[in-house]
Amino acid sequence: MSQENDPVSRHYLAISDLTASELSELLATSLQLKREKMSGGTAQILRGKTLGMLFTKPSLRTRVSFELAMKQLGGDALYLAPGEHQMGTRESVPDVARVLSRFVDGIMARVHAHSDVVTLAKYSRVPVINGLSDREHPCQALADLLTILERVGGIAGVNITYVGDANNVSNSIMLGAAMLGAHVTIASPKDYQLAPDFLALAVAYAHASGGSVTQMEDPRASVEDADVIYTDAWVSMGQETETEQREKVFPPYQVNAALVALAKPDALVMHCLPAHRGHEITDEIADGSQSGLWDQAENRLHAQKALLIRTLK
Ligand code: CP
Ligand code: NVA
Repeated sequence: MSQENDPVSRHYLAISDLTASELSELLATSLQLKREKMSGGTAQILRGKTLGMLFTKPSLRTRVSFELAMKQLGGDALYLAPGEHQMGTRESVPDVARVLSRFVDGIMARVHAHSDVVTLAKYSRVPVINGLSDREHPCQALADLLTILERVGGIAGVNITYVGDANNVSNSIMLGAAMLGAHVTIASPKDYQLAPDFLALAVAYAHASGGSVTQMEDPRASVEDADVIYTDAWVSMGQETETEQREKVFPPYQVNAALVALAKPDALVMHCLPAHRGHEITDEIADGSQSGLWDQAENRLHAQKALLIRTLK
């Protein structure tokens, strides 16, 4: 079997599963699919294909955008709620992969431990897509890069600052943006900074692309000259026991009018959603003219269509 046709080579568990040119191609296809949808139609490219969607955590955007992407491309999607499969307790992760991959053409999984998507991929006969793990949210990053392309006009040379908890979302957007030549700054409290392996990989990507990656603590300094300010929840799903401690540490990292005023005048504000209004972002900013939040959410649909075509066709 050639590598091109090998499902194993088409897993998408992390940004590092793509090269810079594959990432650029996916974004170009996403834009084209978005235009096609706006002009009335999407080709039924995935007719007869089914995506199994395995969730171990709640979701609005990921579930809806993947399900509609499959349907609009002529295929089908099967939602498996956490209580139904009970992966890891009722049945082992390898056995879920073995069984589900006998029924469907691809699996999209939202898991707690990243090692679970790696195990699913290892035992699955069909490609596996990471719909969010504790290490990465690579599908979100595709939609985010598409939004930056549309709203800022490019990615190479753009100053992108992420303010807040260095988490799954910041890992993926940082890696994707660094791969495409952006100047990425991450501002997080001392105990909530990037894992060394992600920072090293992002620095290597930036070195190859002409971009840069900087980690700092000071949120105010981090947004100086920013074209894009990105934030996410201070408490990710699965970290609820740390809420009290995190709520003490993160308030200086709130994306509010005072912080946004320090960036470029028309800087784009981004958040993967769900937003915790009054915590990491204020109403005024989430609902203001610089907000890219709703474009990001919509772009999940268009970006994932491109990904699904690459993965399942
Ligand atoms: N951004 C995102 O993944 O949203 P959901 O958790 O609603 O899927
Ligand atoms: N960092 C958040 C993203 C939610 C889409 C979480 O993992 O809960």
